[in-house]
Amino acid sequence: MNVKLPVREVHAREILDSRGNPTLEAEVVVENSVTGELACGRASVPSGASTGQFEAVELRDGEVRYFGLGVRRAVGNVNAKLREALLSQDASCQRKIDERILDCDGTQNKENLGANACLGVSMAAARAAAEALHLPLYQYLGGIHTVRMPVPMMNILNGGKHADNTVDLQEFMIAPVQAESFAEGLRVCAEIYHNLKGLCREKGLSTGVGDEGGFAPDLPDAESVLSLIVEAVEKSGYAPGHDIKIAIDAAASELYDKRAGCYCFPGESKMKGKQVLRSAEDMIAYYEGLAREFPLFSLEDGLDEEDWDGWQQLTKRLGNRLQLVGDDLFVTNVKRLAAGIQKGAGNAILVKVNQIGTLTEAFAAVRLAKENGFGTIISHRSGETEDAIIADIAVAVNAGQIKTGAPCRMDRVAKYNRLLRIEEELYPGR
Ligand code: PGA
Ligand code: ZN
Repeated sequence: MNVKLPVREVHAREILDSRGNPTLEAEVVVENSVTGELACGRASVPSGASTGQFEAVELRDGEVRYFGLGVRRAVGNVNAKLREALLSQDASCQRKIDERILDCDGTQNKENLGANACLGVSMAAARAAAEALHLPLYQYLGGIHTVRMPVPMMNILNGGKHADNTVDLQEFMIAPVQAESFAEGLRVCAEIYHNLKGLCREKGLSTGVGDEGGFAPDLPDAESVLSLIVEAVEKSGYAPGHDIKIAIDAAASELYDKRAGCYCFPGESKMKGKQVLRSAEDMIAYYEGLAREFPLFSLEDGLDEEDWDGWQQLTKRLGNRLQLVGDDLFVTNVKRLAAGIQKGAGNAILVKVNQIGTLTEAFAAVRLAKENGFGTIISHRSGETEDAIIADIAVAVNAGQIKTGAPCRMDRVAKYNRLLRIEEELYPGR
């Protein structure tokens, strides 16, 4: 007799995220049909700052409280409509749960209930099911396929919308590509992070941090950031390009000026006392130069989310040397990813579950990417909570890579710590 897990309760509330803005937390209670035991799963929804325009809708109240950012309407949708739609449904089939959620919303972009309402319930249902079956979440989601610990792409220097400094590109990350275990890689990256802090201090640069916990000093351009990171890697006793490779998230949609048809670099302009603008062609040449000079292996959102032609050019020119990651370009959406695969735009996808709104849809994006030889990176948002579910998801889908910020701020570190526990369970004594 197969065990069933009928949903017995669904509830949401408004909590705060790591930026002090409201977000939605959901709870789902299921009953184990064999034992009669009840199990509860809880999950909370993250929120971006450099949000892609093609993401599913994050429902905000738009009222005076919390400067319009309240999520009482999304909470209300969980506590009424989604609760109604899911009571008695079998949570052991995530696909069916997510189909009910999609039907209940009824729109393409989840504007009716809000992707935040949908995702909170989708994730909480998975947690409740895993709990009811006494399985760790990664194992419930990935079964016997859970074999691979992700390599962290650790964001140690923040810019763009994630900090108030002059660094225009949003994220500078290090990846411990030679590490023999996740724990080893984490240690190496954390040591480099501390040495980077020391270097900033020595050079009279700020050691304050941005939204994702990386340092946020005022530096004139990407070259000076990359030089500083290389220096920190060497100071830590590691070889740049061998032990450690560097990844950039340019978040170029944020720099793109539609009217002018070019990319504006306000920080670089300020530091150099002259206006710095780059065309798509200039951007590609710029990245080509950076990749020649520094041990770059990955470039995310190098161009605007609507510039398919530019992305094709970028991929032709740099696709054999760099991982070219679509974040705002693909928004974890199989339709946009399929377009990218067909056009030859990018060669990897950043997966953020709240860009699409259910686990089933996010997993479909991962599957499509893998079937087409695209890389997959599970990612946090710049606004996070203590929920470390992306750690379980990264292991469950064998993503290979995870992006979850600096080893600083507990909203980021919680994910690293969860991965340490998972590695200990999967590979005791590693
Ligand atoms: P966001 O940034 O969460 O602010 O969108 C993360 C990213 O761009 O990768
Ligand atoms: Zn990004």
